[in-house]
Amino acid sequence: VDGRHLKDSFRSRFIRMSMPAPPRLLDLAGQSLLRHQASAIAALEVLPMELFPPLFTAAFAGRYSEILKVMVQAWPFACLPLGALMKEQQPHQETFQAALDGLDVLLAQEVRPRRWKLQVLDLRKNAHQDFWTVWSGTRASMYSLLEPEVAQPMKKKRKVDGCKPGPKPPLAPVEVLIDLCLKEGTPDESLAYLIQKVQQRKGLLHLCCKKLKIFAMPIQNIKKILKIVQLDSIQDLEVNCTWKLSTLGKFAPHLGQMGNLRRLLLSHIHMSSHTTPAKEEHCVNQFTAQFLRLHHLEELYLDSISFLEDRLDQVLSCLKTPLETLSITNCLLSESDLTHLSQHLNVSQLKDLGLSGVNLTNMSPAPLQVLIERASATLQDLDLDECGIMDSQFTVILPALGRCSQLTTFSFCGNPISMAVLENLLRHTIGLSKLSHVLYPAPLESYEDVRGTLHLGRLAQLHARLKQMLQELGRPGMVWFSANPCPHCGDRTFYDPEPILCPCYMPA
Ligand SMILES: *[C@@H]1O[C@H](CO)[C@@H](O)[C@H](O)[C@H]1NC(C)=O
Ligand SMILES: *[C@@H]1O[C@H](CO)[C@@H](O)[C@H](O)[C@H]1NC(C)=O
Ligand SMILES: *[C@@H]1O[C@H](CO)[C@@H](O)[C@H](O)[C@H]1NC(C)=O
Repeated sequence: VDGRHLKDSFRSRFIRMSMPAPPRLLDLAGQSLLRHQASAIAALEVLPMELFPPLFTAAFAGRYSEILKVMVQAWPFACLPLGALMKEQQPHQETFQAALDGLDVLLAQEVRPRRWKLQVLDLRKNAHQDFWTVWSGTRASMYSLLEPEVAQPMKKKRKVDGCKPGPKPPLAPVEVLIDLCLKEGTPDESLAYLIQKVQQRKGLLHLCCKKLKIFAMPIQNIKKILKIVQLDSIQDLEVNCTWKLSTLGKFAPHLGQMGNLRRLLLSHIHMSSHTTPAKEEHCVNQFTAQFLRLHHLEELYLDSISFLEDRLDQVLSCLKTPLETLSITNCLLSESDLTHLSQHLNVSQLKDLGLSGVNLTNMSPAPLQVLIERASATLQDLDLDECGIMDSQFTVILPALGRCSQLTTFSFCGNPISMAVLENLLRHTIGLSKLSHVLYPAPLESYEDVRGTLHLGRLAQLHARLKQMLQELGRPGMVWFSANPCPHCGDRTFYDPEPILCPCYMPA
């Protein structure tokens, strides 16, 4: 079979027939090729590139491992978005391994074949969603069959997806893109096979991982896997493992190598009681020092981190970039921490600030006021839920809030605030044209007793009063929600305008 001839005959047949739907032809061609694996493999050399995706899809679905293996070697595009196919075809253990084996054979060749195009094996499930549909039996694909120059989705997408443009030097490594989630029970069989291949083809196969999540997994196993990941490819890291501080210390050197990290979430780090202060200090230093190497960090989330108290200045002094998001939640902070935060955080880019679950009850409101004031030109989202902020403190920050011209969302549920101060807040923020959502706590007046039983009728009245004020002041569209934890189950209950009750909440 001659590729050109095959294409010409396809072309003339399409031009002649307006009916039936073209995809059927591709399917038929694919099926007949797959039935004769040997001739299919022989035909790959001359198969037009347009026919690769539909044939590959059919081979993947039908689990034709041999042909998959050979197709990977002859793949005529820079990127093979295998993840999108694996999402649809379960299980795929055998076919996945076949594809990797194909890559392995390709990499084993001393001199790369002339037609070698493959640069990226993309295993991410949500990347290149449209590649297979565009190339497989849709009208767009038919169009490309007639006008091969016109539709080249990979070329257009390359920059967006981080595949580097331009020709690569002859022995540039093939990149395998994957989003990793390390948790109990991983690595699974597929990942283990991939890890093995990457280890075997050291330097020729680069495991790149934009998003990395680490839940429960022993640190030794994590370190083993990180050893073969290109750490500078990681942009988004979530660590939520209930680690001891010393374990974080062991992890720290890896963090420092993630020089392109943009988002870091760290949750649940606790100090064990029998650690010496010196050891503790050493681990904290080891961790904070890594921030000096994160030159692209934009978002930092620290949740339930037990060592922050009186050490926030140390973290802040190591930050090299202005953050867009800073969220410190469920942590103990001292007043001096808050003062450092208000003075030393570079707020030039700060859009989201979250301090929910940080107890501010006995603190001076001045630092918070300074921080909000300094960030008022950029701040879009402010979260002060469950901070124990009282009327007197809240009153101090109101003027600063009123200057946050970019603010869209403000949430401060779970704070003991009276109706008078809520009304005051409404007046201070009514002119903020971008503010669309305010989540406020049930005002003090709506509680029946100190145990937190809500008088729902009174709450509805107070809510109606705020609604009426919004109306009168010309902002009827601004949404004010009251959200409170249900005293029985702790789930958050919303009120707008009538309470949306938790099923378990049955007032006497
Ligand atoms: C961390 O994991 C726990 C469950 O293990 C979850 O409840 C919590 O929301 C997670 N924290 C973050 C910040 O994702
Ligand atoms: C904050 O960061 C910006 C951008 O890096 C920089 O230009 C500015 O000088 C910094 N501001 C302070 C107070 O360090
Ligand atoms: C907040 O701290 C004060 C003392 O500083 C304490 O009395 C109060 O119980 C704390 N609130 C919470 C919710 O832990």
